[in-house]
Amino acid sequence: MRDSLAGELADVVGRAHVITDRDRLATFETDWTGRFQGTAAMVVRPGSTDEVSGVLTRCKAQGVGVVTQGGNTGLVGGGVPRPDGDAPVVLSTIRLDELGGVDCDAMQVTAGAGVTLAAWQAQARDAGLDAPVDFASRESATIGGAVATNAGGSRVVRFGTMRSQVVGIEAVLADGSVVGSLSGLAKETAGIHWPSLLAGSEGTLAVVAAARLRLVPWYRRTATALVAVDDIAAAVSLLAYVRARLDSLDSIELVLPAAMALVAEHLGADVPVGDSGAYVLVECAAHDDPVDELAAAIESSGAVLDAAVSAEGPRRDHLVAFRDRITESIAAAGVPLKLDVAVPVSRLDELVRRATATVDELGGRLIAFGHLAEGNLHLNVLGAGDAEAITDTVLRTATELGGTISAEHGIGIAKAPWLGLVRSAADLAAARAVRDAFDPQRMLNAGVLET
Ligand code: MLT
Ligand code: ZN
Repeated sequence: MRDSLAGELADVVGRAHVITDRDRLATFETDWTGRFQGTAAMVVRPGSTDEVSGVLTRCKAQGVGVVTQGGNTGLVGGGVPRPDGDAPVVLSTIRLDELGGVDCDAMQVTAGAGVTLAAWQAQARDAGLDAPVDFASRESATIGGAVATNAGGSRVVRFGTMRSQVVGIEAVLADGSVVGSLSGLAKETAGIHWPSLLAGSEGTLAVVAAARLRLVPWYRRTATALVAVDDIAAAVSLLAYVRARLDSLDSIELVLPAAMALVAEHLGADVPVGDSGAYVLVECAAHDDPVDELAAAIESSGAVLDAAVSAEGPRRDHLVAFRDRITESIAAAGVPLKLDVAVPVSRLDELVRRATATVDELGGRLIAFGHLAEGNLHLNVLGAGDAEAITDTVLRTATELGGTISAEHGIGIAKAPWLGLVRSAADLAAARAVRDAFDPQRMLNAGVLET
């Protein structure tokens, strides 16, 4: 069966793009964190939407499931084979890397699913525009993965999540049919809006092959402040203050002391501001240098113990590294349990207090940081004692505080058992019915988003 499918898929994509060698499969079988791992029957790398369609048709005919993988930077086990169940075909989007010319009039560009965020950003900047979504794994993370997970990142406070950037989509259903359009009309009310349906569906309804993406002005002048504040409550006051005053606010990130100490150790550098209960990294970007208005807003906020402020250049890059390189610092220290949750900002304080108590009780070292404006904390636990119990308690806590169990990383297989905390029985039944209509045999990403 495996050999005959490999032969059929080679007819579709070319022999060089069907990988069956066990050593070469390994990198596609384990996720970026090292926590999720399964066995792939093979990896197939289609180079066009038609080839994606051909691959899905052949896999369906042989009853072999498919897991779609972009840059393999996912954090919830949604892009690698599951540890249980039959070995699926991993459909790598990496050859869907065509990037169209920038349409400066419409401020849009069309990108294949395998285009990286960094390439999207570079293409936009070559045309004097910018990509509205950015996060630390930009060199590997792909457009298809970012759409499928409705990725967020640091600029959500200004431009929204990935969902808001998709003005057209081309996707392939489990039976090989191609749906959607890349025309990029901002206004078209004609029934199902494919970008809305597919963004955040984590590859369970279709394989995203390409997307028409919104671009934004490129604000070339940037300024960054790393601010030490008393505690989380003070960080939230600072958020409210700068948000109301700074038109140029581009991101506002929260770093708690354990995360700051870890990244400083990893960078081999001193924290640029004094010890404190919380740190906030505020970034502004504008057509004119925003450094003075940023410094003035920080100064007058009344919430600040100490601050380092810099316009663009090496000093700013140094400040940004204390946020951008936290994930890498955690990975260097071990395999983390990653819990990406969000609560109303007024409850962040309580979330951290309760998560700290949970980890103290159940074992591990809590490293917390995240996106302040969305109340989105990444609670990473190194050396987690009872990972299942910690996950259960923290996700229940986030829900009790009026929050969600997944803000931007998705549900994947990691959080599927807890989906009922944030979705009613009616929600789940309706979602199942939609999935049944698209993919009754669960060919696509089985186990993701449902148990
Ligand atoms: C981030 O904000 O840095 C990303 O979501 C990655 C992570 O949580 O580790
Ligand atoms: Zn994040």
